[in-house]
Amino acid sequence: MASLKSPPTEPRLPTLTFALLALALMVLVVAGFLREERREWRSYQESFRDLEIARGTTVEERRQARERPIELAQIVVPELDTVDRCISCHLGVDDATYAGAGQPFAYHPDHDVHPFERFGCTVCHAGQGRATSAREAHGDVPFWDRPMLPLDFVEASCGGCHDPSDNPAAPRLARGAELFEEAGCRGCHRLDGWGGGLAPDLDRQINGRPRSPEWLMQHFLDPAQVVPDSAMPRYGFSPDDAKALTLLMLSRRRPEVSGYHASRRILESAETGRRLFRAKGCIGCHQISGAGGEVGPPLDHVVTRRTEGWLVAHFREPRAVTPGTVMPDFDFTEAEAHSLILFLRRIHERTITVLDEPSPERRGEILFKRYGCRGCHGVDATGGVPNRNSESGEQVPSLIYVKEGYTRAELKDRIRIGVPKVGKLEPDGPEPPLAMPGFGDRLTEGQLDDLVSYLHSLYPAEDELDW
Ligand code: HEC
Ligand code: HEC
Ligand code: HEC
Ligand code: HEC
Ligand code: HEC
Ligand code: HEC
Repeated sequence: MASLKSPPTEPRLPTLTFALLALALMVLVVAGFLREERREWRSYQESFRDLEIARGTTVEERRQARERPIELAQIVVPELDTVDRCISCHLGVDDATYAGAGQPFAYHPDHDVHPFERFGCTVCHAGQGRATSAREAHGDVPFWDRPMLPLDFVEASCGGCHDPSDNPAAPRLARGAELFEEAGCRGCHRLDGWGGGLAPDLDRQINGRPRSPEWLMQHFLDPAQVVPDSAMPRYGFSPDDAKALTLLMLSRRRPEVSGYHASRRILESAETGRRLFRAKGCIGCHQISGAGGEVGPPLDHVVTRRTEGWLVAHFREPRAVTPGTVMPDFDFTEAEAHSLILFLRRIHERTITVLDEPSPERRGEILFKRYGCRGCHGVDATGGVPNRNSESGEQVPSLIYVKEGYTRAELKDRIRIGVPKVGKLEPDGPEPPLAMPGFGDRLTEGQLDDLVSYLHSLYPAEDELDW
């Protein structure tokens, strides 16, 4: 065996030469690569310069265009911790005369709303801000975990700074937020700190383990295709609605913003008005739906009593409109005054539709939606969400007939305590993935009563029962 051992005095020279050669080669490759990268943005700048020269109408303009430096450009936004070099190639973003030009020179829509020098680019588009090649900037690289959002999904980013349900300029995102409540997703998932604990926590999961837009789309269209045996229902969403929900999910990857960038998290809207109404304690002096103080008049229908102009002026300076009033001057901005009016208008519409006829059944129906019961029991409580190997026909049960099997008190207990362990169809089979959560910590006695009234109201009338 000894003959196979390497001789101790093996000359080391060839190895060394080889290592040096490899190193030299690597340096060359890297240098070539860097030159290639440099060439990419340089060539766009040269084309842009040629374009500018051709567009010049006077000798002076053409001279200036010719002297346009060829250099890396970047937007540094310390508050957002970003250095975005996108404008090294995207040279016409802030020049309206480049509207409709070919990429990467086109003018950017709506850029006056979010001045680029304060926002940069990646806060909305994601991607790799410092990179200088299109491939790397657009984030098409394995080690970068914020690849650029496909153009069709950029709207998701608005949710990082504005309330997703509340941005008229991002209608599809708002649709996603609405669907989340409509479809009862909250029955299984937690979002914004509240909701069920049966399924992944959407506040954390998505941040920790980013899913691509394509993955999310596919998952909404058919969860089981993406995650075998998924307990998440297949809703039969249209592609538009699946996209709306995908936008909502992507909007959770919000960058940390504060100061100026957080200053307009809120846009003029009814939701903003509602928050102001609560925060300023208006209810202390005014009644809505019969609850609240009596220092000032009730506000349910004030929008029919006063004109918009009167209300704005009154919010901005109550004493100028009603001399000597005790209504405080809250120093509202124009936008805040408009938001309050939108809120009061919503109250007016709601009070005539919902609260004017405050039937327990109707209130129960609203609770059924708000607490995500629909997510498991179906939009109209007829059940049908698959629940593998559960006793109740491998489905979450319908609630139409619960009036038969339970007294009111028993039914309230069911909802209060839940059914933590669901019976198995096949004793040796797997645990059914869905159980009935207990809602005792979230619902008051009165609300439980309303829910029971709603469930009882579902029971078909005598003549509809076909036995
Ligand atoms: C090296 C030049 C270069 C850099 C740097 C660059 N881009 Fe681009 N970008 C292009 C070119 C060329 C196109 C058009 C062809 C294409 O889509 O790849 C483009 C297209 C785009 C599009 C349109 C995509 C579509 O689907 O139509 C967006 C959005 C975009 N870039 C954003 C960015 C952002 C954000 C950055 C910075 C993080 C950036 N770009 C950096 C060259 C660049
Ligand atoms: C406030 C968010 C926001 C910021 C900041 C922002 N963009 Fe955009 N960008 C958008 C939206 C929204 C669209 C339109 C997407 C669509 O067409 O639906 C868009 C579209 C684009 C397009 C495609 C335009 C077209 O018509 O094809 C390019 C390229 C682009 N942005 C590059 C940039 C660059 C470069 C910057 C930085 C200088 C930047 N964006 C900053 C939100 C933003
Ligand atoms: C990084 C945080 C941030 C992101 C992301 C962002 N915005 Fe804004 N938005 C702001 C700030 C801050 C302002 C106020 C700008 C100012 O007035 O200087 C604003 C202003 C606006 C306004 C004007 C409001 C008014 O009353 O004048 C609209 C509309 C708007 N944003 C819509 C959007 C849309 C749509 C998106 C997504 C494409 C988006 N924003 C993304 C922070 C953001
Ligand atoms: C009946 C309970 C249930 C309901 C209702 C439900 N889900 Fe799910 N969801 C799950 C379960 C269980 C998973 C984990 C298995 C999987 O990924 O399919 C999941 C996974 C997800 C994921 C993937 C999380 C990740 O990154 O792995 C998203 C996103 C999601 N749900 C969003 C929603 C939305 C939006 C709705 C409402 C339209 C909804 N879910 C309704 C049970 C539910
Ligand atoms: C995460 C899914 C899930 C959510 C959310 C959910 N349930 Fe259930 N529910 C179930 C399951 C599973 C059962 C069947 C339990 C069993 O096998 O006994 C059930 C059973 C019930 C029952 C008893 C039905 C019967 O025939 O025995 C009532 C009543 C009920 N749920 C009401 C509600 C109400 C009201 C809400 C909302 C406040 C709600 N559920 C939310 C999954 C859910
Ligand atoms: C300290 C008590 C007090 C508080 C707090 C208060 N108001 Fe008033 N408000 C009044 C009084 C008194 C009047 C009637 C005299 C007047 O028109 O100023 C009034 C009038 C009004 C009117 C006109 C009603 C009508 O029918 O003419 C509106 C609208 C209104 N308040 C809205 C609000 C809103 C919104 C808030 C919270 C941001 C608020 N108020 C906070 C006392 C108060």
